[in-house]
Amino acid sequence: MVAIARILLPAGRELLERRFDLAEGGLDADREQVLKLVPGAAAIVADPTVPVNAELLDAAGDQLRVVSNFAVGYDNVDVDACAERGVVVTNTPDVLTQATAELALTLTLAAARRVSDAERDLRAGRWTGWDPAAYRGLELRGATVGVIGLGRIGGRYAEMVRALGADVVYAGQATKPEYERELGARHLHLDELLQAASVVSLHARASAENHHLIGRRELDLLGPGGVLVNTGRGSLVDSDALASALQDGTLGAAGLDVYEDEPHVPQSLLDAPRCVLLPHIGSASITSRDAMAHLAAENVIAVLDGRDPPSRVA
Ligand code: GLV
Repeated sequence: MVAIARILLPAGRELLERRFDLAEGGLDADREQVLKLVPGAAAIVADPTVPVNAELLDAAGDQLRVVSNFAVGYDNVDVDACAERGVVVTNTPDVLTQATAELALTLTLAAARRVSDAERDLRAGRWTGWDPAAYRGLELRGATVGVIGLGRIGGRYAEMVRALGADVVYAGQATKPEYERELGARHLHLDELLQAASVVSLHARASAENHHLIGRRELDLLGPGGVLVNTGRGSLVDSDALASALQDGTLGAAGLDVYEDEPHVPQSLLDAPRCVLLPHIGSASITSRDAMAHLAAENVIAVLDGRDPPSRVA
């Protein structure tokens, strides 16, 4: 039996139902329902909202062979607990790279050009006429854009902003000679990047080490002209510090797709000016979500057939 903790889109579900009995929790499944769904499962299909920890793995039982996460990020999965039980972990990289990079670019442009505030004012009847001084924002041509985590998604985003005429700098443990060659990207330490860049986009993986990687001090370095974009994970940013930097004008603008305690969005961020907020839709293109569902199913089938899955993380 394959337990789908919540739902799997037809592009993947149809592959699985030809081969296996399925148990599905549904979109609104709470923790108790998920725990009741998994006993006896050979595979669990999870997503970023489903913590896959020792409790869930033990509830599933010894026959469990694979956790297939419907996402490229797998910070919801306790990989060590899976390894201890001999359970393979897979994710859905590559197929969402373009969609997520495009959304980071969308947030970059929207935040840089004050799109949310301008639209909110118009809808609320506060637009009283064309004003040469209102909503003045930042152009990307000639701007320095800092990418934190120049991996697959960060790299695609860097190509996009470079095509718009931005200079690219990046921070992260590894240097990326191919992006230095192709885009003229320069590798900097985090503090140097925050000082050099007027836009910073976060694409680093969430981990204990980079929890609140961006806090008050880092936002101060980015400064009143700076734009922060986060399509990675909410835990990378201290949201209280971000909301107060937007309120007191020490940060220029922000564009967020992810939050520390989703789906909760802090009131301070909802109230903050110059802030574009989206409900975690980075990979939500039709093409990408179908391909993710297909890959999540292929990963399950490969492991249960005794083959190497297309995208194994552990
Ligand atoms: C979505 O958040 C993902 O990691 O794919």
